[in-house]
Amino acid sequence: MEQKQIGIGIIGCGNISDIYLTNLTRNFKNVEVKACADMFLEKAEQQKERYGLAKACTVEELLADPELEIVVNLTIPAAHHSVNLQALKAGKHVYCEKPLALNLEDAEEAANVAKEKGLILCSAPDTFLGAGLQTCRKLLDEGAIGKALGFTANLVGPGHEMWHPAPEFYYKKGGGPMLDMGPYYITALVALLGPIKQLSCFAKTSRQERSIKGEMVEVEVPTHYAGIVEFESGLIGNVNMSFDVWESELPQLEIYGTEGVMHVPDPNMFGGPVKLYDGKKMERIVTAVEGVPINRLMKMHGCKAECLREVELAFPAEAVPRSNLRGFGVADMAQALLDKRSSRLNAELSKHVVEALTAFDISSRENRVYKMRTTCERPAPMSLGLELWQMD
Ligand SMILES: NC(=O)c1ccc[n+]([C@@H]2O[C@H](COP(=O)([O-])OP(=O)(O)OC[C@H]3O[C@@H](n4cnc5c(N)ncnc54)[C@H](O)[C@@H]3O)[C@@H](O)[C@H]2O)c1
Repeated sequence: MEQKQIGIGIIGCGNISDIYLTNLTRNFKNVEVKACADMFLEKAEQQKERYGLAKACTVEELLADPELEIVVNLTIPAAHHSVNLQALKAGKHVYCEKPLALNLEDAEEAANVAKEKGLILCSAPDTFLGAGLQTCRKLLDEGAIGKALGFTANLVGPGHEMWHPAPEFYYKKGGGPMLDMGPYYITALVALLGPIKQLSCFAKTSRQERSIKGEMVEVEVPTHYAGIVEFESGLIGNVNMSFDVWESELPQLEIYGTEGVMHVPDPNMFGGPVKLYDGKKMERIVTAVEGVPINRLMKMHGCKAECLREVELAFPAEAVPRSNLRGFGVADMAQALLDKRSSRLNAELSKHVVEALTAFDISSRENRVYKMRTTCERPAPMSLGLELWQMD
C-alpha cells in the first residue's frame, strides 16, 4: 500500500536547511517537502531549485498553503518564537530548530496556542532518536550500569566562528554556548535520565568583543558556563558549556552508575559507539554501532579484544547511519500524526529544556539555586528506525 505523506513547508533557507532538505526530500517515506520560504526570497528560490521543490514563496504565502501540515522553522533563534506563533495561528503543526524559544514565557505561550488548537509543537534536537543515544537508553533501562548516580556533560571549544559562514548570531541575544549547544546535552540527559529538579550556575562573558572575519563583533551573552544540576531522580552532575576554551580532553557526556560507567556518544550526532565500563568485571565494553572494524575500535577506544562485546542495538544500525540525520524528529512527528499517537519530541519536553537552558543564566545573574517549574516524561524509546528510513 502507498505510504501517505505529510506535506512539509520549510521556513528559513540558511546553513542548516541543506541537511534538512537533503534528508526530508530523500530519506523519509512519510513526508513530502512542498514549499520553502525565507525573509530573503532569493534564498528560498535557491533551495527550491537545488532540491527540486514545487514552490519558493514568502512566509505568509507558505502559511496560507492548505497542503502543508507541518512547518519546519529553521530561522535564527531570535526569530523562532514569532515564526512559531505565526505558524501555529495559521493552523500548522510546528517543528522548530533549537531552542524552541529564548525564555520559558515564550515557550509556554507557544505551547498554549498549540494545545488550544490541537497542534503538535516541538523543537530540535532530534539526535537522541538516533542509534547511539537510543542504544544508551536501552542499556540504561536494562540496568547496564546499575542505578545512575551522576554525570558530566561538557561542550567546550573555541567558538563557532571557526567554521560557520555567518556566526555573528551566536554572540547576540539568543546565542551563546548554553542556548546553542546546551539543547543537545540537556535534551539527551532528560531523554535518558528524566526531568530536572534544580540547578545552579556561574557564567561569564570572557571577551566583550570577538573577532569575526576580521571585524570586531560585540558579545551580548555569556560565553562560559559552569553549572551543577540535580534531577528529579536525585542524580547530580555538572554541565560545562563554553566558546572560550582553545582545547580540551574532557569527555562530552559520561553517566556514572552504581555498577559501572557509560561513555555516551556525542549528543550532537545520531550514532557513535557506546562504551561501558563494567565495575564488577573491571572491563570496558564497546558497542559496534557504526560497523567500524574491530581493530579500529580497539585503537580508538584503547581497549583489548576481549573487552569488545556485541551489544544488541536499540534498532538496526544500518537503518540510521552515523551521518547527519537532522529531520528524523520531523519524520517521527509526521508518523505520530499518521498513527494518531503522541510525538516523541513534544511541547512538554521542549518547554522543560528551554526552562533549564535559561535557568543557567538566571541562576548566575541572581546568584541562586533555580528550582524548575516545569517537568516532562522521558520520550518513548525509538523503534521506528527501519520503517521511516527509505532503505532503497
Ligand atoms: N548551522 C548549523 O550547523 C546548525 C546546526 C544545528 C542547528 N542549527 C540551528 O538552525 C537554526 C538556523 O541556523 P543556520 O545556521 O541555518 O542560520 P542561518 O543564519 O544560516 O539561516 C537562517 C535563515 O533564516 C532566515 N530568517 C531569519 N529570520 C527569518 C524570519 N523571521 N522569517 C523568515 N526567514 C528568516 C535567514 O534569512 C536565513 O536564511 C538555528 O536555530 C541554529 O541554532 C544550526
